[in-house]
Amino acid sequence: MKRVFGRWMPVVASLTMICTLLTGCGFEYNSETETETADVSQNGQFIVVGIAQVGSESDWRTTNTKSYATTFTEENGYHLLFEDGQQEQENQVKAVREFILQGVDYIVIDPVVETGWESVLEEARDAGIPVILVDRQISTDDESLYTCFVGSDFTLEGQRAGEWLENYLSDRNMNEDEINIVTLQGTLESSAQLGRTEGFAKISRYHDNWNMLDAKSGEFTQAKGYEVMAEFLDLYPDIDVVVCENDNMAFGAIEAIEDAGKELGPNGDMIIISFDAIKAGMEEVMKGNIAVDFECNPLLGPEVDAIIQKLEKGEKIGKVTYVSETYYDFTMDLENIVNKRIY
Ligand code: AHR
Repeated sequence: MKRVFGRWMPVVASLTMICTLLTGCGFEYNSETETETADVSQNGQFIVVGIAQVGSESDWRTTNTKSYATTFTEENGYHLLFEDGQQEQENQVKAVREFILQGVDYIVIDPVVETGWESVLEEARDAGIPVILVDRQISTDDESLYTCFVGSDFTLEGQRAGEWLENYLSDRNMNEDEINIVTLQGTLESSAQLGRTEGFAKISRYHDNWNMLDAKSGEFTQAKGYEVMAEFLDLYPDIDVVVCENDNMAFGAIEAIEDAGKELGPNGDMIIISFDAIKAGMEEVMKGNIAVDFECNPLLGPEVDAIIQKLEKGEKIGKVTYVSETYYDFTMDLENIVNKRIY
């Protein structure tokens, strides 16, 4: 387990850096759910944005938070109130209620799970505050509860992962082989988990020889990814494919597989399919430990900024905007792309 802590160090360092960054630019950061009431309007000088973030479970999330912190600065005309929900919807709902009380101009929510948002969104709508959903979506029949969504199409990501596996097996004349698959799922009921699971299932349904042995949540964290993968390795002696619904769980899975003395990669015992394609994930692709990594773009600050600027001018915006994303696999020459990757 030594390397688990080794891999955590950059996360801790990044979080420390982000907190320093946040407090240094007129940004109110709360990792607790208590928000200090302040003169957030600053006499109308700034556009006040309240962000209810999911938490800090992954490297992807760290980059995502940093993207907001560097976008919503006073230099750019914003005053940012930031709440870390610590993976609890209750904390996020409380944060949104406080943003409403503080009379912010815009509320940005990255919903930890899809359901249970109606009441608080009705309160925001009644207060006349536009709500922008980012990264993850909500499940509701009432689209008037939010202004718009910007983020990833998780179902498409999962579907592409399934299609990639189809091609990979076909290239090796393994279409008819029995393929044993386990899945390390993200936070259950989050749209990232639901979409990726459903997207992959859309393809796996066509293949009777794909044995979906097991699926369990690793909560998008490296430590839990290690734990769940170690459990799977004990239970199933012949795993061919590990689907990790984010890179941090893949890092944990890689360690568990190495500790079990198994070999990773197309010529080894099993392959890993992952999501996020953060720099460290792509480095694992280059090493052959992750066979393919499906990109999930965390740089959503500028996307939200563009939406707010349009709303400020009274311009029309789309209800749903999906950011463009690609994938990287072991057959590609990734060195240049990885060197240029900023997250
Ligand atoms: O919602 C996006 C997902 O959440 C990312 O894949 C994951 O790394 C994060 O924690």
